Amino acid sequence: MSLIAYKRINGIRGSVTPPADKSITHRAFILAAMAHGRSKIHNPLLSLDTQATLAALQAVGVEVTFENRSVIINSNGFARFRSPQKDIDCGNSGTTARLLMGLLAPAGITARLDGDESLRKRPMARVIEPLRAMGADISGEKLPIKISPALMHSADIVGKVASAQVKSAILLAGMQLPDVTSYTEPLLTRNHTERMMPMFGVEIRKEGNTSYVGGGKIEPCELTVPGDISSAAMLIAAAYIYGNSEITVRQVGLNPTRTAFIDILKSWGADIARDSALCGDIIVKSSALSGGEISGSMSAYAIDELPLLAALGLFTDNGVVIKDAAELRHKECDRISAMVHNLRLLGAEVEEFDDGLAVSPLKDGKSGVLFDSMGDHRIAMINIMLAKRWEGGINSDDLAALKVSFPTFINELERLEIK
Ligand code: S3P
Repeated sequence: MSLIAYKRINGIRGSVTPPADKSITHRAFILAAMAHGRSKIHNPLLSLDTQATLAALQAVGVEVTFENRSVIINSNGFARFRSPQKDIDCGNSGTTARLLMGLLAPAGITARLDGDESLRKRPMARVIEPLRAMGADISGEKLPIKISPALMHSADIVGKVASAQVKSAILLAGMQLPDVTSYTEPLLTRNHTERMMPMFGVEIRKEGNTSYVGGGKIEPCELTVPGDISSAAMLIAAAYIYGNSEITVRQVGLNPTRTAFIDILKSWGADIARDSALCGDIIVKSSALSGGEISGSMSAYAIDELPLLAALGLFTDNGVVIKDAAELRHKECDRISAMVHNLRLLGAEVEEFDDGLAVSPLKDGKSGVLFDSMGDHRIAMINIMLAKRWEGGINSDDLAALKVSFPTFINELERLEIK
């Protein structure tokens, strides 16, 4: 392990295409594996997280080939999955672990799922309990867990946590069963699963916060994955961290359940123009940001961007308060503790709550700070951007975390820097 020290940069300029959407890529691979036949996924994200999903699907008998920038999936369908010979390694990916539980619990196979040190600590009961209520045989409460063959039945499940992963796991299990399963979420969360299922011919009905699936019908599909707004958000934030910036982020997925970050920044006075289509460009010019409070359903919608919004609090006129975000403590690391720790190192005034944090504006951050990424890809990207603002550093080991979602992050940021 060595120290990487960064020089101050004075703004970013130009255009960038972010990596493909992680949530959509996981779902595209999984739905394609469930269908009998050949699916083609264009522009998927091939990062550590999505490769963990792909390897798991291969382990249950699905054929995967690569063609230019596409992945081709040939499958005999979910009814023909076979028991993997080894444990399935979900790595660092909560989405892989939770969605696979829903996918594999009704499949009549035996499979053990495991993950890295961080994933072994993350809550899995939120998925396991409703699956057990549908008859699943799952032993363990956290990874490693074992799935055994069980005759599952449909059910009406009311979710306790606002989580797209939990919702997706239940819908993936429910759609394999002959009768209708319903899942009601406490708050609307990202809806990629519901939007993508019909593209694969799956019958799904949505009424308010409840989705209904069942019947086992699914067909192969060809689709293109748009850019990931959570990765784009890092580069958008860079424009406000450095000032003196103007960038265009191209081909970003603009599903309204994922755009809260942009909506929040605009409500703080950010100069951001965006396409109104579901996928398009975002044009960002640095400007003053008022800051403000994020709470309630806004915290759920912006969940992956909340640490970034906390960091942006330093660059606002009035600071940022984040509440109703206890879920942040159960991500790849405890993201509330991580942000409190790193922002305080800079000399910022930060208050920690059980369910969030408050960050005051900071005029001059301390230089020479060694940030701690806690093995978390999103915290690592934020730290690198702050280090490049106030001549700080990170441990070289932290760079490995970027492979989880945005392997080319440093190259892209450095390409945009004003030289
Ligand atoms: C994801 C849902 C979110 C998010 C994660 C990806 C998904 O987690 O934090 O990065 O693809 O469904 P929760 O659904 O647990 O909030």
